[in-house]
Amino acid sequence: MLAMQYRGPYRVRATHKSEPHIEHPNDAIVRVTRSCICGSDLHLYHGIVPDTRIGHTFGHEFTGIVEEVGSSVQSLKKGDHVLVPFNIFCGSCFFCRKELYSNCHNVNPEATAVGGIYGYSHTTGGYDGGQAEYVRVPMADVGPLVLPPDLSLDDAVLLTDACPTGYHAAEMGDIAEGDTVVVFGCGPVGLFAAKSAWLMGAGRVIMVDHIEYRLEFARKFAQCEVVNFKEVGDMAIHIKKMTDWLGADVCIDAVGCEAAGNTMQRLTGLKLKLQAGAATVLHWAINSARKGGNISVVGVYGPTFNFVPIGNLVNKGLTMRGNQAAVKRHLPRLIEHIQAGRLKPSEVITHRIPLEDVADAYHIFSSKLDNCIKPVLIPPSARQLEPARPAVAQSQSQSQNHVH
Ligand SMILES: NC(=O)c1ccc[n+]([C@@H]2O[C@H](COP(=O)([O-])OP(=O)(O)OC[C@H]3O[C@@H](n4cnc5c(N)ncnc54)[C@H](O)[C@@H]3O)[C@@H](O)[C@H]2O)c1
Ligand SMILES: [Zn+2]
Ligand SMILES: [Zn+2]
Repeated sequence: MLAMQYRGPYRVRATHKSEPHIEHPNDAIVRVTRSCICGSDLHLYHGIVPDTRIGHTFGHEFTGIVEEVGSSVQSLKKGDHVLVPFNIFCGSCFFCRKELYSNCHNVNPEATAVGGIYGYSHTTGGYDGGQAEYVRVPMADVGPLVLPPDLSLDDAVLLTDACPTGYHAAEMGDIAEGDTVVVFGCGPVGLFAAKSAWLMGAGRVIMVDHIEYRLEFARKFAQCEVVNFKEVGDMAIHIKKMTDWLGADVCIDAVGCEAAGNTMQRLTGLKLKLQAGAATVLHWAINSARKGGNISVVGVYGPTFNFVPIGNLVNKGLTMRGNQAAVKRHLPRLIEHIQAGRLKPSEVITHRIPLEDVADAYHIFSSKLDNCIKPVLIPPSARQLEPARPAVAQSQSQSQNHVH
């Protein structure tokens, strides 16, 4: 089959590799119809995630048609069109019972913090991902969701990660009615965090980035104020100035370990690897929040430590939360929002690229070329599929409906 393969930092290509097969009675084999490239894939692409092996196929955001199921699978059958959350999880361990699906204890022998993730190196279990024609889906009874007939493939594929991750970020911010929310990072995750902040009752949303086309996109998509950090001296002082010198109620980190904006952080975090990535946004978030405020972190960092102003966190009485998103928990509510016209995830898709051209897709997304926000890869066999699915409902209202 055709599949993306990692060849080393900044080198990926579409090659042929053998098709996956059922390895466990609860596996399914899914023929991929859409797969996205995520900001998280860029950490792999840039060679900063340990144990990313040559030949590994990335891709944790995909939809597909069930080709084959193992003998114990009961909730799926051949021919079902499914979206597959990026988390691999068992559904029955201590953590899954608390709906902490991203922290499942049974799917990743390499770590006890994070669970399993498709196509995300051996540090998350070594599962091959969905930037391919076929993918093996373990624990097939608990992860995949059969697509409702009125959900478009483009909306569905964004429900596998970016959209629920943004929603999870806003939820961890514990936003109260009227709160001022600052979202660092105008990538897909930040954009959905901003959209979700409005849905959760925010009174003001400010987004921060340094790429002008992304700030422009954010202004329109999330109907928010934007700040270009390159034009600002001190981020915390700037946010305080914008908020009557109090600071923001909630700060969301949707950037993570590869943050730009501070040379010393990049040197120690990315070049010398003395800390688990550049902690610039953690600094900005902690220092820009008001006393007693909340910090929500979905940007990805390595497992070791970062130089962060922990004393400020303590002295300001901040609450800080972070996690990989528990995608499955958010799906029913997000599908309601889509069906009601309050949210249209596919609006962030700017590029539809044949799987054969995966190397170009990574280059464009990584270098932020051609006004790219979110690229979707389409395998050859899926190209004639979309007309068979219904058109997406038009987004009727742009946010500010405080309905969670
Ligand atoms: N926790 C989860 O479940 C989860 C899921 C998906 C993605 N992620 C992580 O979320 C982050 C964002 O993902 P994405 O797909 O939106 O990525 P992306 O690369 O499209 O967007 C990141 C944005 O951050 C901006 N940025 C860089 N430095 C900044 C700074 N100092 N301040 C503000 N903005 C800055 C970049 O210009 C870019 O626009 C990544 O770290 C990714 O790994 C986490
Ligand atoms: Zn992702
Ligand atoms: Zn579990």
